[in-house]
Amino acid sequence: MIELFEDKDALSQAAAEFFALRARTAVAARGRFLALLSGGETPRQTYELLAQEPHRTRIPWQQVHFFWGDERCVPAEDPRRNEVMAHRSFLDALPLRPEQLHPIVCEGSPRQAAESYDAHVRDFFAGGLPRFDFIFLGLGEDGHTASLLPDSEALNEQVCWTAVTRRPEDEFSRVTLTAPLLNQAAAVVFLVTGRNKAKVLRSMLEKTGHRLLLPAQLIRPLRGDLCWFVDREAACLLDV
Ligand code: 6PG
Repeated sequence: MIELFEDKDALSQAAAEFFALRARTAVAARGRFLALLSGGETPRQTYELLAQEPHRTRIPWQQVHFFWGDERCVPAEDPRRNEVMAHRSFLDALPLRPEQLHPIVCEGSPRQAAESYDAHVRDFFAGGLPRFDFIFLGLGEDGHTASLLPDSEALNEQVCWTAVTRRPEDEFSRVTLTAPLLNQAAAVVFLVTGRNKAKVLRSMLEKTGHRLLLPAQLIRPLRGDLCWFVDREAACLLDV
């Protein structure tokens, strides 16, 4: 499903409303809502809206759990951390108990952080199907999503639910969830804005890129919705 929006403001409003709808529906049906957050800049406005009215009071926050799709292995309070961005954007303004937050803790080595998060997610789902209700993802200009980077071994991971990746230009490693886990979700929502994403979005949606070059093409929920929320600038090369 591709939803086209005039601009980032409209896209962010719609993404927040979609999140709120899914949250209320999941809590009514199963008593909880398992959300997985993306990093990057695109979702920040959506996150901020979730901490404002009407969502501030209309989402049953006490039944929401937050996980992360990836994290940068930098110090705990480092603003480069996706967890820090989410806390500053909305989590700190919400009535959440500590046990509702499931950050990727990057103590020790990146490998230890990945193994620890894999174990944490397996424990959380108590051996059952690891099915997140709602996943926000972004799209990098190189076709990455979460920290599933082009040509990384993580793209071939079929067993582990986490992996360690690293961009040559970064001085830090990353921990990322892998496609087998992400594809269990009930809903995956890509948020893509800006003219700088137009070429990669066309490659993504026209499936012209090789899967190892466009990691985001690995994301195909097995029994869930795949939603592309795109603004007019990002969609300017699409026939929509
Ligand atoms: C990260 C994100 C990453 C992001 C894309 C798009 O840790 O950087 O998880 O996958 O979603 O790079 O980033 P922008 O939204 O800033 O364009």
